[in-house]
Amino acid sequence: MQRFLAGSALLQNEPLVEEILNTVVKAVPIPVTLKTRLGWNDEHKNISTIAKIAEQAGIAALAIHGRTRTQMYNGEAQYDLIAEIKQSVNLPIWANGDITSPQKAVQVLQQTGADGIMIGRGAQGQPWLFADIQYFLQHHELPEKMRFQAACDVILAHLAAMHDFYGDVGGVRIARKHIGWYLARVPHSADFRKQFNQIDNPNAQLDKLSAFLQTYSSEYEFWWRDY
Ligand SMILES: Cc1cc2nc3c(=O)[nH]c(=O)nc-3n(C[C@H](O)[C@H](O)[C@H](O)COP(=O)(O)O)c2cc1C
Repeated sequence: MQRFLAGSALLQNEPLVEEILNTVVKAVPIPVTLKTRLGWNDEHKNISTIAKIAEQAGIAALAIHGRTRTQMYNGEAQYDLIAEIKQSVNLPIWANGDITSPQKAVQVLQQTGADGIMIGRGAQGQPWLFADIQYFLQHHELPEKMRFQAACDVILAHLAAMHDFYGDVGGVRIARKHIGWYLARVPHSADFRKQFNQIDNPNAQLDKLSAFLQTYSSEYEFWWRDY
């Protein structure tokens, strides 16, 4: 990314950001949203300038990851600056970074005043996180954990959908990381994950995973969660 001055490396060139945003917003008939980080590094947190540029360009919503480019994924996301941006521009703001639970989602929404949140890694292996957050926002308590069988149904449907969407070769490969994320919370699953990663056929992936999951079904009523 840095070699091409694309993605968050673009934060170093504000006039170019302005030119790109103005051009794209004018060129397409649909709302254009922007996602970026707080800045290039700790000395150059230029998100407030970028937010003003975005507002003037007619960007429809701005998602902000609470880290700088050089931070990569180290340390914890910072939300203070996102709160400041929310106050300083008239633009829907979505807060992003390290939101992995309903409790954290509420904390970030309160701390930033953001209009919404964006979630990446937190949803890996638990796509029901979004529904859990919605429930927590409405009821101020966590929902019941996913029932074991309901979670299995989601996981197997997700696996079949990956085969359909990416094709047999790509789907089998991409499924390995997703199934790895699901099984990361399942006790004593490391050996099976290694075996699963050797399978190169979609039906065999489905059959082996289904059989593996069923070995837990008499013992566990609920799927595992860490919030
Ligand atoms: C596998 C992966 C791919 C990503 N791809 C992009 C991308 O194409 N564009 C982007 O702006 N951010 C991308 N991100 C960054 C995320 O959108 C997000 O800002 C970052 O992971 C922090 O949020 P999180 O803590 O909820 O994961 C990616 C992150 C991951 C883990």
